[in-house]
Order: sequence, then structure tokens, then C-alpha cells
Amino acid sequence: MKVHVADHPLISHKLTVLRDEKTDSPTFRRLVEELVTLLAYEATRDVRTKTVTVQTPVTQTQGFKMAEPRPVVVPILRAGLGMLEGMSRLIPTAEVGFLGMVRDEKTLKASTYANRLPDDLSGRQCFVLDPMLATGGTLISAINYLIDKGANDITAICILAAPEGIANMEQAFENSRVPITIVTGALDTKLNEFGYIVPGLGDAGDRLYGVV
Ligand code: URA
Repeated sequence: MKVHVADHPLISHKLTVLRDEKTDSPTFRRLVEELVTLLAYEATRDVRTKTVTVQTPVTQTQGFKMAEPRPVVVPILRAGLGMLEGMSRLIPTAEVGFLGMVRDEKTLKASTYANRLPDDLSGRQCFVLDPMLATGGTLISAINYLIDKGANDITAICILAAPEGIANMEQAFENSRVPITIVTGALDTKLNEFGYIVPGLGDAGDRLYGVV
């Protein structure tokens, strides 16, 4: 498994404003979109392309276009939805599938409550959107679900990650035949006893959409 911690002053700046408890929901949502576009730029470095010929006003030349089948972007509901706009801005032609996962706050275990994905993901590159990689339970379940459907290259884009979650992911996908990459805006210090990332930014879903 590859882990890429994006190291860019603009990302650090936007993350710092996101972490601030005084940042309101509209600002938080806009910053998440902007951050995801920046993270997606890193995450799509190995997106598959094909060689094409293009006629410029001057001459004919070789270039690249995104290959078929198109990548699949999978936001994990609910908080991952706040990342979709930022991702779509960079790859507007990607197909979008949805995965609803919920975390039991006592056991911290994740389970699927909804999905809207192509039945067959054979040969597809998938980009999973989940803002907070805490224990990794949700992402591990989601990625296994995509592998079962045939996905053969998976990148998770997270705003923040905890070392515990990265370690659990490393263990879960140690012998995976499918390459897994995590791209995160920062690697934080730890998880607290409630499963929150420290220093973190609180509950990403609540801060995006308000408490329900
Ligand atoms: N989910 C969140 O929204 N925040 C955390 O800190 C951990 C999991």
C-alpha cells in the first residue's frame, strides 16, 4: 500500500482554516471542495491514458487522453459527498458511484447501508472519497467491497488520516493483489478514546452539513 501525504503550503493553509472550530459550514464546504481538487491532482497522477493524435492550428501531434473504461469516483456517504464536487471539477467525465457506510459509535465497526455502483468494476480505477481516515474500518470495508466487484486499482482520498488507521489499512491490504494508495492532506497525531482524530477537525459530516 502506498501512502502519499500531500505537502503543499496551500493545502496546509486550507487545512488550518478547516480545523478551526470557528469556521462555519458554508466556508467549511467550500474549503473541502478546494482541498479535494488539490488532493485529486496528486491522486490522479497515475490515471490511465491512451495516446491520441491531435491536429493543432499548426501541425499534427501526439497527445494523451483519459483511457476507457473511465475511472469511477466513489464518495462514501455522508461526509464523502462533500468531496464530490472538488473531485468532479478535476475529472468531470468520471463515473460516480455511491456507497453508504455507517460507523457504530460504540464498536467503531462500519457496515454498508446503501450502494449505487456498477455491478462489474473489472479493470476499473476507483477513487474513494472519505474525508477522515480514523480507525480505517469504513475505508477497509469500502475497498474490500470494490475489490469484490472487480476494481483493480484503488486510491482513497482523505482530508486527514490517523496513524492507527494507516496501520490498520496496511495490515488489511498487506497481501492484496490490488494496488491501494492513500492520498491525504495530513497525517495527524492519534485517535482519542472516542475514535476522533487528534488534532483533527471534529466530525466532518456534522461540520459539512450540520448535526442531524
Ligand atoms: N470521523 C470524523 O468525522 N472525525 C474524526 O475525527 C474521526 C472520524
